[in-house]
Amino acid sequence: MMLQTAAMRLSQPVLRRLPPERAHDLALAALSLGLAGRGATADDAGLGVRAMGLAFANPIGLAAGFDKDARVMRPLARLGFGLVEAGTVTPRPQPGNPRPRLFRLPAAGAVINRMGFNNQGLDVFEARLSGLRGGPSLGAPLGANLGINKEGADPEADYAHAVRRLAPLVDYLVINLSSPNTPGLRDLQRVERLGGLLHAIVAARGALRTPLLVKLAPDLEDAALSGIVETAVAAGIDGLIVSNTLLARPPGLTGRHAGEAGGLSGRPLRARATAMLAEVSRLSAGRLTLIGCGGIESGADILQRLRAGADLVQVYTSFAYEGPGLLRRLKRELRQALADAGLDSVEAARQSLR
Ligand SMILES: Cc1cc2nc3c(=O)[nH]c(=O)nc-3n(C[C@H](O)[C@H](O)[C@H](O)COP(=O)(O)O)c2cc1C
Repeated sequence: MMLQTAAMRLSQPVLRRLPPERAHDLALAALSLGLAGRGATADDAGLGVRAMGLAFANPIGLAAGFDKDARVMRPLARLGFGLVEAGTVTPRPQPGNPRPRLFRLPAAGAVINRMGFNNQGLDVFEARLSGLRGGPSLGAPLGANLGINKEGADPEADYAHAVRRLAPLVDYLVINLSSPNTPGLRDLQRVERLGGLLHAIVAARGALRTPLLVKLAPDLEDAALSGIVETAVAAGIDGLIVSNTLLARPPGLTGRHAGEAGGLSGRPLRARATAMLAEVSRLSAGRLTLIGCGGIESGADILQRLRAGADLVQVYTSFAYEGPGLLRRLKRELRQALADAGLDSVEAARQSLR
């Protein structure tokens, strides 16, 4: 235990000196070897959330893209996340974009990536999730995030097929229409296209009714959000994730890699992701479960997202920078932020809005 803690403390500075994708691969290897992930203690009841018919021990999720092939979902859940999301998986395996395709902007607390859905494909993904389903409970709801291949995609058929295969194996499914690195993907968010697509997808989940969420891009115009929300509700979608990475570059973003092409995540995304969430929350008026994502790095950020209408949140970039210790810090800070606001629980924060 001591050794493991020491190894975890050592690992972040060491990992940070390596090229980012190499560091990421090593972090996954360490997780799969059990070198991290026994540090979590049970969450107190005040952090619990109920949403989409599921119970979450705390509202802090791991966002998609960290474990694209569902290799280490169990060790990740053991770190103390309230929900963990595997993927994005595409129907067929694909290599993604040429390297380098992942860039740190440490001074900005940000990352730019143009990974391009590198993954081993649906067959491998499904087999891993089957293995997980067959074993002991993960202790946190498990999501699968679905995408389409760069070449030869048929979105209606491809998403529906993946939903059919994965719905029995996970607690929720995410239709990713927002990654900036697959040409044409974000066009599927246009209402002319979205309605038919979502109806086909909802029909595919069948009698199991596994909750379905759609993950949106922060580059959407506010004017487009009303149509998207109404279309999602009409199709029977359960929730939205706001948001994926940002294509636009906020003014003042500096650093050696600030000009790299790809999606921007982390601190510079926080303001837009929060404002968009607040607008989506206003429009959906309690009809959809909302997961806030983008630039969350403190307990105060989480409370702000809850106040903007989130039921749950997800993190990626702050976890990549800080490692497993992030979770303990976020929970401590969230408890403090709730207490400072005179609230005794996450549910109280959610209720105070409604
Ligand atoms: C390296 C990297 C890879 C990502 N891959 C995916 C992905 O495969 N699917 C997806 O829906 N989002 C992906 N994302 C987006 C994150 O899930 C998240 O929406 C985004 O980074 C904003 O959260 P953050 O600011 O906490 O990082 C990726 C992000 C990063 C940094």
